[in-house]
Amino acid sequence: MRTQVGIVGAGPAGLLLALMLQRDGIDCVVLESRSRDYVESRVRAGVLEQGTVDLMAELGAVDRLRRESMPDARLDVRFSGGIITMDLPALTPGKIVTVYGQQEVVKDLIATRLDRGGAILFEAEAARLSGVNYVRPVVHFRYKGRDETLECDIIAGCDGFHGICRGAIPEQVLTVYDRIYPFGWLGILSESTPFAEMSYSNHEHGFALASRRSPRISRLYVQCPADDDPAQWPDNRIWEELHLRLYDRGGELDEGRIFQKDVIPVRAFVAAPMHHGRLFLAGDAAHIVPPTGAKGLNLAAADVRVLARALAEFFRTGSVARLERYSDTCLKRVWKVVRYSNYMTSLLHRFETHSPFERRVQQAELEYLLNSMPARTTIAENYVGLPFEED
Ligand code: FAD
Ligand code: PHB
Repeated sequence: MRTQVGIVGAGPAGLLLALMLQRDGIDCVVLESRSRDYVESRVRAGVLEQGTVDLMAELGAVDRLRRESMPDARLDVRFSGGIITMDLPALTPGKIVTVYGQQEVVKDLIATRLDRGGAILFEAEAARLSGVNYVRPVVHFRYKGRDETLECDIIAGCDGFHGICRGAIPEQVLTVYDRIYPFGWLGILSESTPFAEMSYSNHEHGFALASRRSPRISRLYVQCPADDDPAQWPDNRIWEELHLRLYDRGGELDEGRIFQKDVIPVRAFVAAPMHHGRLFLAGDAAHIVPPTGAKGLNLAAADVRVLARALAEFFRTGSVARLERYSDTCLKRVWKVVRYSNYMTSLLHRFETHSPFERRVQQAELEYLLNSMPARTTIAENYVGLPFEED
């Protein structure tokens, strides 16, 4: 097979890129190792920045989102000293976020791509890349029991953190920055009325978060040991911890049937540069951020927006100038998002290694936020999404 851009991975990064390239008249093929069913039901992120929603709108993939998503104008942080309330449109000004599950985003993008006759090969697993330093790099993949090749002008590595594309960049040119936090998150979905507001909480038992997926489905998280098995969390233990950690005094937290439980790692990872020869990494393939910032998906969307523009210029004029700047342009945003996600993680979790001094500083930071509008503004402007800088 032959195409202009070979996209490895049908997550948000790969699918958004495919739609932008298709819009710009650039031929591409998406290879996805999993089945369509699997990628459409994988429960992950839930908060979309306005820039991500705008991109879906530009691509004509926003109809269901407009009907079913939940605009969110407020963010609360609870702690022993009270509730820090952030009125997003007042602080940002005028901006909000949108709550819409990642698997719904993925369903909408897949449907849009297939409706327009674009190619996505499911259960097509990329095994290795060759010739990334040459003008015709190749993706070697396995499909329907056979070894196949996809010859491209450019390879977009959108295959997530555990994908194979990052490994095609020689070790000596890649710098890896990694922070593994000493805890994970247990996440649940339950049939229960969600909190009215997105509520993060700092409690001496550990972090908790009350989010939602629909007016009747709650998405709730509690900090747990990084290697915990969801089986160690029977339903009654989860509800007990949530009531406590969310400072629920008046029956605010509605209990319902829990139908999904998973433990997710809390980690920051950046690989630089995001470009080598004819290979460009985007999204989790290049970087992951702790979920406390709700930024992973949005960052993936920001990367491919930059990449699509650079590819359009390359295929239209032959100029590689924008492609050469791709990694630097993306990494500027990536590091700001790492900073914010690390800040929120440090602010809200219980660290067993914290000394009494560090606990007091964390508490003082929360008290400061409660009383300082400029401090709340810095959280709000990062949460709704930083503006895009021109490259
Ligand atoms: P992915 O969504 O990982 O997509 C990569 C795709 O590539 C996958 O479909 C994968 O199957 C495919 N692939 C991998 N290897 C190959 C191969 N060899 N050949 C072909 N295809 C391949 N972010 C938040 O903001 N909030 C959250 O609550 C949150 N929860 C998360 C929970 C989990 C378990 C994980 C892993 C991530 C979570 N994230 C969360 C982060 C967010 O989901 C990611 O940042 C986002 O999915 C990044 O999109 P992506 O397209 O770069 O990568
Ligand atoms: C979610 O709704 O899944 C969610 C919300 C906020 C976060 C992380 C996850 O910071």
